[in-house]
Amino acid sequence: MPIQPSIYLDNAATTPMDERVLEAMLPFFTSHFGNPSSVHSHGRNARVALEKARKKVAGLLHVSPGEITFTSGGTEADNTAIWGAIAAYDIQHIITSPLEHHAVLHVVEQAAKNNNIRLSLLKVDAQGSIDLNELEKLLDQKVSTMVSLMHGNNEIGNILDLKAISDLCQQYSAYFHSDTVQTIGHYPLDLQQLSVHAIAGSAHKFHGPKGVGFLYTNKNKKIPPMIGGGSQERNMRGGTENIAAIIGMAQALEIAGQNQEHHRKEVEALKQYFKEKIKVAIPGVSFNGLSGNLAKSLYTVLNVSFPPSDNNQGMLLFQLDLAGISASGGSACSSGARLGSHVLQEIGADPSRENVRFSFSRFNTREEIDYTINKLRELYA
Ligand SMILES: Cc1ncc(COP(=O)(O)O)c(C=O)c1O
Repeated sequence: MPIQPSIYLDNAATTPMDERVLEAMLPFFTSHFGNPSSVHSHGRNARVALEKARKKVAGLLHVSPGEITFTSGGTEADNTAIWGAIAAYDIQHIITSPLEHHAVLHVVEQAAKNNNIRLSLLKVDAQGSIDLNELEKLLDQKVSTMVSLMHGNNEIGNILDLKAISDLCQQYSAYFHSDTVQTIGHYPLDLQQLSVHAIAGSAHKFHGPKGVGFLYTNKNKKIPPMIGGGSQERNMRGGTENIAAIIGMAQALEIAGQNQEHHRKEVEALKQYFKEKIKVAIPGVSFNGLSGNLAKSLYTVLNVSFPPSDNNQGMLLFQLDLAGISASGGSACSSGARLGSHVLQEIGADPSRENVRFSFSRFNTREEIDYTINKLRELYA
């Protein structure tokens, strides 16, 4: 029997952990098991490691360690920022986009409903771009406003101009939160250059462990905690810190930061290679959102729209899975058991076409891409 390959092209969902990250974490499961809140030596040692990790994360973002709160991941960081800003700043108007991750979209919908807050969803065009003029008009209303817009879209890869948006928010004194889960560790982010009040990061998107992330909150725009309890995280999040995971996240972010330009070039070249190969292999493919535009999309994400095919009929992902290739679905259909992607629906993707998100990391190879393209060619023959 031929050996089944195991090809992972779903790195926007999660990434494999770097072995150096695991190595850094291991002692914190065994010898360095102290609780950072304990005052004895075991606790103090854990506290020192925790604060070192915080310093590392803060340093890479050019902020102070006190502005970093460790969380259970991106979702918790987004939730904390949104609920916290609403409570602290008596938000009357929330502006966001229908393409946000559900960690933002569902939360702002709930928050708007519970608190009788006006919710504005920016219009998006067929490629998922927003219009900054519309954002400015909505900002110009003299009520306490929060803007929540993601940096890089996890499905179609669109990258927003954070600087332009943060300048507008500053001009109109709006609270600005950005879900940066898909860009942290992949792009340099100097928060001194941006007027952003809160951002979210998640370790498993940059070769760190799952279930850990962080929230940055600007020291001049404080928000209350979402999780009460003990006084951990400078009273920003009750509960004993997941120290091993936090150490792993800091290590993963450090590795990402040290080699960012190199990794970026490598992964961007893989995406470009995939894109060119698939265009030739399957006539009629196109790319959803801006993902086909290398300058305007995440170098990790290519969302491919396949022409309708009698061979596959909604089974493409399943067929790829059978061939040992993991990618992610993005059906645009809105009825039935498969709910489909809200992002593809919003940009009006054609539901009769198969949409598959391929997302890459530095652990992928050209051989894997060749194999995938060959398999796709077979499936479309
Ligand atoms: C853009 C974006 N925001 C938030 C999240 C949620 O992060 P986590 O899985 O760490 O809760 C994800 C992960 O899928 C994401 O892609």
